[in-house]
Amino acid sequence: MTVYRTHTCGELRQSHADERVVLSGWAARIRDLGGLIFLTVRDRYGRTQVVFDPDRSEELVLEAKRVRQEWVVRIEGMVRTRPEQDRNADMPTGDIEVVADRLEVLASCETPPLLPEDDFVPSEEHRLRHRFLDLRRARMQKILVTRHNLLQTVRRVLSKQGFLEIETPYLTRSTPEGARDFIVPSRLHPGQWYALPQSPQTYKQILMVSGFDRYFQVVRCFRDEDFRANRQPEFTQIDIEAAFVDEEQIRETAETLMKAVFEQALEIPFPTAVPRMTYRDAMQRYGTDKPDTRYGQELVDLTDHLAGHGFGVVDGISKAGGGAVGLCVQGQAAVSRSWIKKWEEFVKQRGLGGLMPLRVQEDGSWANPLGKFIPAEQLQKAADALQMGEDDLGLIALDKGMRRFEVMGMLRSALAQELGWIDESRHELLWVTDFPLVEWNEEEERYDALHHPFTAPRYEEWERWRETDPSRIMSRAYDLVWNGHEVAGGSIRIHDRTWQEKVFGLIGLSPEEASKRFSFLMEALQYGAPPHGGIAFGFDRMVMLATGETSIRNVIAFPKTTAGMALFEGAPGVVDEDQLHELHLQEIKPKGETGEND
Ligand code: AMO
Repeated sequence: MTVYRTHTCGELRQSHADERVVLSGWAARIRDLGGLIFLTVRDRYGRTQVVFDPDRSEELVLEAKRVRQEWVVRIEGMVRTRPEQDRNADMPTGDIEVVADRLEVLASCETPPLLPEDDFVPSEEHRLRHRFLDLRRARMQKILVTRHNLLQTVRRVLSKQGFLEIETPYLTRSTPEGARDFIVPSRLHPGQWYALPQSPQTYKQILMVSGFDRYFQVVRCFRDEDFRANRQPEFTQIDIEAAFVDEEQIRETAETLMKAVFEQALEIPFPTAVPRMTYRDAMQRYGTDKPDTRYGQELVDLTDHLAGHGFGVVDGISKAGGGAVGLCVQGQAAVSRSWIKKWEEFVKQRGLGGLMPLRVQEDGSWANPLGKFIPAEQLQKAADALQMGEDDLGLIALDKGMRRFEVMGMLRSALAQELGWIDESRHELLWVTDFPLVEWNEEEERYDALHHPFTAPRYEEWERWRETDPSRIMSRAYDLVWNGHEVAGGSIRIHDRTWQEKVFGLIGLSPEEASKRFSFLMEALQYGAPPHGGIAFGFDRMVMLATGETSIRNVIAFPKTTAGMALFEGAPGVVDEDQLHELHLQEIKPKGETGEND
């Protein structure tokens, strides 16, 4: 039997002095100090310094000189305490070194295109192309260890509460979560397709009907949508569902899970009460349904202060249902015109007409940003509403719709980045509740479900607003926001076929279409479906936040780029004609490639 290692590269301490050890790992650093060779060997547990001394063996030193970075080596030797002046307090094994008496090269390595050292991090594209080397970096190894630990914690916490882990299919029917489906052709059934699940939503509801009153699953979800820093086309959810519960019990379960995550990964205490905010409040105060509450600088609706005083533009938009919204930028009264222009451009690119500064003039009064028609008294009221001092700068936008809140919310986040408002050591959680059931889709001229169409409405509001203004019906949905990221979302579901048909009707699905697309769920809802609800956490986002990363690509071993490419494996790729034939498919070449379709 070959003993490749008696210890890992992160294990040896002074207490091991004079022990004979065997280490295996990658050559991270090699230094030739006038005959003495120092080789740092690395594995996922750490690094150890190995010394090759010519006084012991010239031959061994010659062999060590051949070793290049990232070669895989096996070393035998004696642990020795380093002399006081050579100790390295930054390295857990920095008090010792191994004096080698044997070296075996287990594998050589071509000149690596990427050196897996944390002090040099190349471009993301380069990293993803050579992911096997990138994943050797200590930072990446630490992240994936944290990911593993959090997953075990999640499983432990949920199992302890009686949740059963049940797997649901990946080859299935379309499950609507608002994105496009990835579809898979069926070889055995020409012209028919499976869809990869956007989430296991319908299955978990059916499991409730089947009596598994507490379900969870660590599950891959697939969504063909535009990818941003915190989105991936395939991502992992911690999916949870329970029967005989209401919103409070689901929130309690979610908080228990988050508490364990906070305590384990962040080692910080969990808040005694997670604050709650209605969707409407979040939109008005932060311009988004996932506000970052680690900093203030809230938006303030200034319409009442500025309208009705003869300034035509404000009066006009306020009559049309629009208004003015302001943001206080603390301590920035003295910024230049070009600074303001830059941010004006920012809001213009996002659909607003302009951005007006409000600041104190030399005589101590507020310079009127809107024109001469606003009385000084009203400007003072606006400044008071923004809680402005004389060192502060107010930024005000006008718009005839609600877009003003959203864009000013984006400005708030961009300024937070630029001006360093965010205390990165803080962690803030927030429940957002009271979402509207549906929202009007201007392009398609119909209502869309704001969450998914299985979310229960507040039934009394349905009765009240269904005929006159359905956008005022609230749903029983909730989202959990962590530092401005939606980390989980869920709802209490409709558990009655008639109600499900009514909601499908509101979003433009006839009973026939509904039973065609969701017959399996509709049928189940007729056979004793208990009241139920659930939630799903975005696990990649959870790990990203728990490890302080800013992109979920950094917490996934083999992620896709923002263009949906797997650079390392080279996917998506082309398939053989034969394979297409077998699947009864024919490729339509993009225009210009063959001339056939020009
Ligand atoms: P939802 O669509 O809100 O709800 O998804 C739940 C959570 O999954 C994460 N998430 C994503 N993470 C990475 N990349 C993506 N493309 C992506 N899309 C979503 C988010 C989000 O909060 N079936 C419902 C849940 C339920 O009602 O129980 C659902 O999927 O963190």
